[in-house]
Amino acid sequence: MEEGKIRDLATFISSAKSISVLTGAGISQESGIPTFRGADGLWKQYRAEDLATPEAFSRNPTLVWEWYAWRRATISRAQPNAAHYALVDLESRFNGSQAHSFTLLTQNVDGLHERAGSRNVVRLHGDIWQLRCPSCGTERQDYSVPLDPFPPRCSCSFLMRPGVVWFGEPLPQREWERAAVAARKAEIFLVVGTSALVHPAASLPLLGKQNGARVVEINPDPTPISRLADLVIRGKAAEVFGAQWRENQRTANSN
Ligand code: OAD
Repeated sequence: MEEGKIRDLATFISSAKSISVLTGAGISQESGIPTFRGADGLWKQYRAEDLATPEAFSRNPTLVWEWYAWRRATISRAQPNAAHYALVDLESRFNGSQAHSFTLLTQNVDGLHERAGSRNVVRLHGDIWQLRCPSCGTERQDYSVPLDPFPPRCSCSFLMRPGVVWFGEPLPQREWERAAVAARKAEIFLVVGTSALVHPAASLPLLGKQNGARVVEINPDPTPISRLADLVIRGKAAEVFGAQWRENQRTANSN
């Protein structure tokens, strides 16, 4: 474990006034939710073109819904881990002061950040617990596992779709604008558990860097961010934000 670097991160954070964080599937890996591109990643077993595109949904909505229903079931059994909770703590430290700001940008649709207690979350790729009607635009939250009826229908009788962003679709505009503002104003831009291969989300750390942020990456494996990062912590998120991190924060808070 990279204790020296974890202390460096704590020092960076203690002198910063604004912090933005971009998370990806890796932050939920230790909660038991599979990532997309690792050795056991979802895109090793399934083809994104068959399951996560508007064309796939038009071709075979039941197949797409079966895959989302399976993911909803996996996520419903998972609990937030130490990394999710560490980001809740950081937010409360930062947003407790008017002069400080903290924004959490996530590509994850699992909702574990919110379940842990994060408030200022920008969901770049939507929400697996939201259902949306492609016909009348109705949106609703539905946490039931299994879904009933399956596949879910709108009151206008059209088939609902998952409220997530699929390949080939634009990011929700308001979220993207909030993310770009947060990237530009960040003094520290923390990148946790993303392969940084899916754009435009993956371009946010670069936008931060170009506007003066120190970029810090937490990831067991190299990514395109590693080259531009000022600090790279090679480790799993829940281990990096484990007991030692909590002890450092406790000491920093009591000083
Ligand atoms: P990926 O699966 O592409 O990348 C996960 C990253 O997490 C990899 O770089 C891993 O090395 C790292 N990782 C694995 N375990 C970790 C751990 N315990 N702690 C920290 N890091 C760990 O997932 P994303 O980058 O989130 O989009 O993928 C981006 C988008 O591609 C997703 O939102 C999804 C996917 O296709 C859509 O479905 C549109």
